[in-house]
Amino acid sequence: TTVYLADYTPFGWRIEDVHLTFRLAPHATRVLARIHFAPCQLAPQQEFFLHGEELRLIGAKIDGQEVTPEVTDKGLTCAVPAGRFLWEAEVEIDPANNTALEGLYMSGGMYCTQCEAEGFRKITFYPDRPDVMATFTVRIESAMPVLLSNGNPGASGDGFAEWHDPWPKPAYLFALVAGDLRNHPDSFTTKSGHKVDLNIWVRPGDEGKCAFGMQALKASMTWDEDVYGREYDLDVFNIVAVDDFNMGAMENKGLNIFNSSCVLASPETSTDDNFERIEAIIAHEYFHNWTGNRITCRDWFQLCLKEGLTVYRDSQFTSDMRGPEVKRISDVIDLRARQFPEDQGPLSHPVRPESFQEINNFYTATVYEKGAEVIGMLKRLVGDDDYARALDLYFDRHDGDAATIEDWLKVFEDVTGRDLSQFKRWYSQSGTPRLSVSEAWDNGTFTLTFEQHTPPTPGQADKLPQVLPIAVGLLNPNGDEVVPTRVLEMTEAKQSFDFTGLSARPVASILREFSAPVVLERDADPQQRAFLLAHDTDAFNRWEAGHILARDCLLAMIRDGATPDTAWLDGLETVLRDSTLDPDFRQMLVALPSQSELAQALHEQGSTPDPDAIYDAVMTLRLFMAERWADLLPKLAEEARVTAPYQPDAEQTGKRALGNMVLGLLTHTDGGAAAQAQFDSADNMTLQLAALANLIRADKAKAALAAFYDQWKDDRLVMDKWFGLQVGAADPGKAVEVAKALTAHEKFDWTNPNRFRAVFGGLIGNHAGFHRKDGAGYALLADWLIKLDDKNPQTTARMCSAFQTWTRYDSGRQTHAKAALERIMAKPNLSRDVNEMVSRILAI
Ligand code: ARG
Ligand code: ZN
Repeated sequence: TTVYLADYTPFGWRIEDVHLTFRLAPHATRVLARIHFAPCQLAPQQEFFLHGEELRLIGAKIDGQEVTPEVTDKGLTCAVPAGRFLWEAEVEIDPANNTALEGLYMSGGMYCTQCEAEGFRKITFYPDRPDVMATFTVRIESAMPVLLSNGNPGASGDGFAEWHDPWPKPAYLFALVAGDLRNHPDSFTTKSGHKVDLNIWVRPGDEGKCAFGMQALKASMTWDEDVYGREYDLDVFNIVAVDDFNMGAMENKGLNIFNSSCVLASPETSTDDNFERIEAIIAHEYFHNWTGNRITCRDWFQLCLKEGLTVYRDSQFTSDMRGPEVKRISDVIDLRARQFPEDQGPLSHPVRPESFQEINNFYTATVYEKGAEVIGMLKRLVGDDDYARALDLYFDRHDGDAATIEDWLKVFEDVTGRDLSQFKRWYSQSGTPRLSVSEAWDNGTFTLTFEQHTPPTPGQADKLPQVLPIAVGLLNPNGDEVVPTRVLEMTEAKQSFDFTGLSARPVASILREFSAPVVLERDADPQQRAFLLAHDTDAFNRWEAGHILARDCLLAMIRDGATPDTAWLDGLETVLRDSTLDPDFRQMLVALPSQSELAQALHEQGSTPDPDAIYDAVMTLRLFMAERWADLLPKLAEEARVTAPYQPDAEQTGKRALGNMVLGLLTHTDGGAAAQAQFDSADNMTLQLAALANLIRADKAKAALAAFYDQWKDDRLVMDKWFGLQVGAADPGKAVEVAKALTAHEKFDWTNPNRFRAVFGGLIGNHAGFHRKDGAGYALLADWLIKLDDKNPQTTARMCSAFQTWTRYDSGRQTHAKAALERIMAKPNLSRDVNEMVSRILAI
């Protein structure tokens, strides 16, 4: 069944309060609910329906009288009084057998919950929709030493604990945790002087991996006060790390639950990338307290209202913590790697979808990352001051609401007096706009003429012009900036902009900071790009110029067997030698486009990508770079050396990233000697893991893999790296066999999403390995998705997106991919989640 945005109707009752009692037992947990319902005058007449799935109803009462509701596998209906009434129900659930990790389940001996989006209905009968908000009082009865729920702690004693959350919330923000946990405590005093107890709760043995997360939490709390004027609103803030989790983390009110991979960190076990990601996710979940919890979503179609905004806020935070240039470049790399293929393929959907079968399938790069881009564009169009005013009005006007995108845009219209109806297309129109540009020079006037066009996407044949903020600066021929960044506001399909009073024809730097999520089609000649690489004052466009030169060089090698473009390499070398530039920025310039990006580019140019040829070209170019820069690389390695004690900060992280980039190139010429030396001396995971990756690529990793295993076999998160890296860094011809062998390893627990994703995410990320000509990569993934679907539909469905680009490749590969997809479709009792994903991918 498909749900439509257009069908929204409010629930017929308000909830005054919710009291829940949990009597925890692994296979027979009893949940007792007492809920006061009162009719809602404004809602249309309707039958009293409560969601409920996989619940055994023990008994139900209305106003103390036993009732016998009509129960189906989706929920129950019941005759109810006309006025206010008390609903009581007792149900039994089986957390130990809940392998879908949705609702109340067990992970490593502890009880925990995941209710977003629609998991609460697996806990008790309830109107499980985000526009029904209520205050919750929870009593947990269990012999477990630590018993947690949302809000502030109440009474507790031997075998029980009570919690009260004074803030009305939808059921998806409910959480409960019970286990033998250790805490890392701290506290934070808000701007208005309220002291908040902070805790990170972990399994015994993980206490030493909490300090960084705690620092990140406190930094987030300060930042949200300083930048958005948002204070925390409870006496406690708890974070819990769990090992079995479908996603990254969850913003439950006052009780955030995290995938342990997204909170636990130590220099020995976590890479710099892990640290940065953990900092961002802690911030993200914390920021949801205002953008998501205090103001939530009316329905799940509005998911981007909280996710786009919260991703935008966490990117601002990271940018403030670690520097805006590198953050913007890595966000664009990520957007192009994950959101562009989605928006240009069979899974394309608007930032605000209009229908779905399974909402869990819409926690996508489009809703999150394109949703954040849309907010960045809005801010650029209205300016920083009006953005701040609009946000203040949003918090003021909608605190306590379940809001919509219309509400969100209205605060901007009210503050600025702008009409945002055309801008709103960003929420309803799917697909990546393509923006082409041509230049003219006439007697001191420079003219840029843009044309925009969005190709059709599933369900949307015709597209209208979007509002595009195009940030442009002009450089004069000697490299000085003559016109600083100006935002051109494009609203038409074709539009020209003049720059007057110039003394010489300038070089344009277009779409600075990647000011709109579009594909820019610009026929700049390589000299112009090299000029921008050397002189642009906008760091993003400087990187972009180098990136496009690298891409075009590789495309020419792949298509025409060309030799590497030495002019570009010399320009790059000049930038690399400039030690006034940030090491991380320099490192990003040398990182070549990913193989899937190259496949996408070839496809766009009308040729069929050959994954093996792409792989070979990348290897050839890397060897060429290593040989050409034989004297430069040791100098860079020297510059990248960190002598101070390990810190996961931007400065050290950038140096190590540069050092590891150098190591990657050196490995092409030294047979793995430098990698072995780094592996032997590494005292942190960033250096150790990069060394191991390069030893694998050099085919010299046998001893190192064994040593690594020996050192880390009892650390679950490091073992995920060990599994993932062997597949991800494998020679493409061997990746499938390596993955297959690892699935037989005693530590391969396929019901743990992190471990499953380590191996199969590694395979999918190995472009030529996954897209192997004989279809063995597709077949292996399909085998395991079919196996996992019965246990965990959500994680299975997410991984189906590996097939979203299948029609790009040659007919042989397409035949294999199609067979794999059809095999998944034919699985008996296929989940709704996977059924929807595979149907869309096959376009049926
Ligand atoms: N709201 C969470 C976040 O953005 C994601 C949880 C999604 N979970 C799910 N099962 N769909 O951090
Ligand atoms: Zn979120």
